[in-house]
Amino acid sequence: MNDPNGFCIFNNEVHLFYQYNPYTSYETGIAHWGHAISKDFFHWEHQPIPMYPDQWYDATGVFSGSALIENNTMYLFFTGNVNYPGETPDHINHQALAWSTDGVNVTKYENNPIINGSLTMPNLRDPKVWEYEGTYYMVLGNSLNETYGRALLYSSNDKISWDYVSVIAQSNGSLGYMFECPDFFELDGKYVLLFSPQGIEPSGDKYHNLYQTGYIIGDFDYSTHTFTPTSEFVELDHGHDFYATQTTLDNLGRRIVIAWFDMWEQNYPEAADGFTGTMTIPRELRIVNGQLVQKPVVEIGNIKGKQVSAIKGKYTLSNKAGEVNVVADGRKDFKLYIASSNVTVTISYDAANGKVTLDRGGSDGVRRTDWRPAGRGQLKWKIFVDASSIELFCGEGEVSFSSRFFPADAVTIYQRGGASVFKVRDIVRSMPRPT
Ligand code: FRU
Repeated sequence: MNDPNGFCIFNNEVHLFYQYNPYTSYETGIAHWGHAISKDFFHWEHQPIPMYPDQWYDATGVFSGSALIENNTMYLFFTGNVNYPGETPDHINHQALAWSTDGVNVTKYENNPIINGSLTMPNLRDPKVWEYEGTYYMVLGNSLNETYGRALLYSSNDKISWDYVSVIAQSNGSLGYMFECPDFFELDGKYVLLFSPQGIEPSGDKYHNLYQTGYIIGDFDYSTHTFTPTSEFVELDHGHDFYATQTTLDNLGRRIVIAWFDMWEQNYPEAADGFTGTMTIPRELRIVNGQLVQKPVVEIGNIKGKQVSAIKGKYTLSNKAGEVNVVADGRKDFKLYIASSNVTVTISYDAANGKVTLDRGGSDGVRRTDWRPAGRGQLKWKIFVDASSIELFCGEGEVSFSSRFFPADAVTIYQRGGASVFKVRDIVRSMPRPT
């Protein structure tokens, strides 16, 4: 799997579609959409493949897109990709529409594409659609002259006929050559453009992944369709594996984000287990002090687990999965190790410089960012460990790190530094793991 798609609430259930190659986990294939349904953002049930690449306009991929719920119908907007090997350009992205009334069976609109890619060649993709005061809006990822990434706004009165409206944001070179998976939403009185730019060069502690995901906060004027940034571009996560985010608004009014918990071209050692790629824990987004903060959805707290408190030594998880809560003296350095026989992930706090580092070892193992406990008080970290992943949330979610790791056997957690202690919720799952 890769990108999350069509993330929405339909008939009180959470639907998550995603980019999916059903034939092999060893290589990227022609994208289909996969589909899973959840009642709590945590337990998911797999559904039949809702969309195959079976039309002229999506023959080499039912690429990413989003959902709009209206009149008990789930409208799905997606990019149909067609490759033309050896030609210039070598691919075209069309925008297309499909729908479902039962949330499982999907019908593609017979007069697709709704935006013909031969007029917008070649890179215009990943439609995110919403409605505002009777007009439909679509934000799309694009590249100006294959050199400057940008996000374009289109609008429509009927979901079928779309007109170009404006450029919402454009790279001046420093934000890369292409924007993928743009999302644009109102949150806490501001507008947030969340997107995945390609081609940003590493700089200091920043931008060390192949591609980035981050956001710009600003104000949006619907009468002029202009987005006026009030923040810089900020990475949403600081780990190795976090890309192609998508958000939805749930029935409680929460803005929830989910990301592909992987990165292109990594070849992680999971294909032999029958899968490649996974999703992050869904996280609730808020704007606090002009910055996006993210917290794992509260439903994650309902996972059954054995609570083990105040560990000073070490703790071995029963089944490689658990929630670790650290509370330490924010004035002192601190180190936590998450280790197996073949890999050790070290998460450390450098109190003098106010930095958090996650080091998973190997080449390019280090990711680091600025962070200090609020008011220089207690250091509080919440860490979710799963069979191949670590998600670290610092403080109230000001900073997160999402990184994959591949422990060969039991996972043990231990600490160094201070008289601090950590607590573990040891999650013994009944779910079978691939062998
Ligand atoms: C992002 C992306 C999207 C595209 C999809 C194809 O990871 O490249 O731009 O729609 O993946 O699978």
